Amino acid sequence: MKKSLLVVANWKLHPQTLKEAQTLLSSYELPRGMSVAVCPPALFLQPLRKAHKGRIVFGGQNVFFEKEGPYTGELSAGMLKDAGASYVLVGHAERRALGEGDDVIARKVGAAARAGLTAILCVGERERDEHGFYLNHLKGQLEKGLAEITPLLLKNIVIAYEPIWAIGAPSAVAITPRDLQETTLYLRKILHSMYKDKGLLVPVLYGGSVTSENASSFVGTGEVNGLLVGRESLKGKSFNALLDILTHA
Ligand code: PGA
Repeated sequence: MKKSLLVVANWKLHPQTLKEAQTLLSSYELPRGMSVAVCPPALFLQPLRKAHKGRIVFGGQNVFFEKEGPYTGELSAGMLKDAGASYVLVGHAERRALGEGDDVIARKVGAAARAGLTAILCVGERERDEHGFYLNHLKGQLEKGLAEITPLLLKNIVIAYEPIWAIGAPSAVAITPRDLQETTLYLRKILHSMYKDKGLLVPVLYGGSVTSENASSFVGTGEVNGLLVGRESLKGKSFNALLDILTHA
């Protein structure tokens, strides 16, 4: 197995009850040496974290950029930490689609990292064009999203490359490992231009229609440091198969 692979399970708005969430979590079987972070709905974070006796760590799916104040409906990085989160997804395409822009995302990434959470900054193009304009788009998302991240805070950053066209799509639509490799190299190049050698230490994950069939080619040929998994993480059996396959990747 590749060293220190990170698999992040993004449960999104599932499951509907804490009991179902507990059942799903207890169906996970972690192979040795694999790091898994589960991002459940925020309400389930604390009870899942408290009851869990294994090596799984937890994350939020969103965070607010202020620490406290008159912000109805928001959750701070400190609250997520207190509930047992060590990671938080920021700028997921589904949140961007609800109107979250790069400025807000940058503030969220900054707030999370300063609070000691690891911010998983999600970037990804809506479509690929033959002129490569999507690469500029990715560069912009990365540079803007990391605007508040000093070299010292970089240890609290993970990048998740999730092309929007591959999220929630049939697995046949997922990116090819070669295209992923090119994009991963490109993202690392941008990180290097921003932070020099330190930038190369930032883990880059891939997400978008990951299954046990394509997972190992993404970490192999695709050269990512791990995966962000949506639907396949909602079925214990499929998720365990995916983790198991990665131990041979
Ligand atoms: P998917 O979702 O695995 O269901 O495509 C991935 C994500 O949105 O993080």
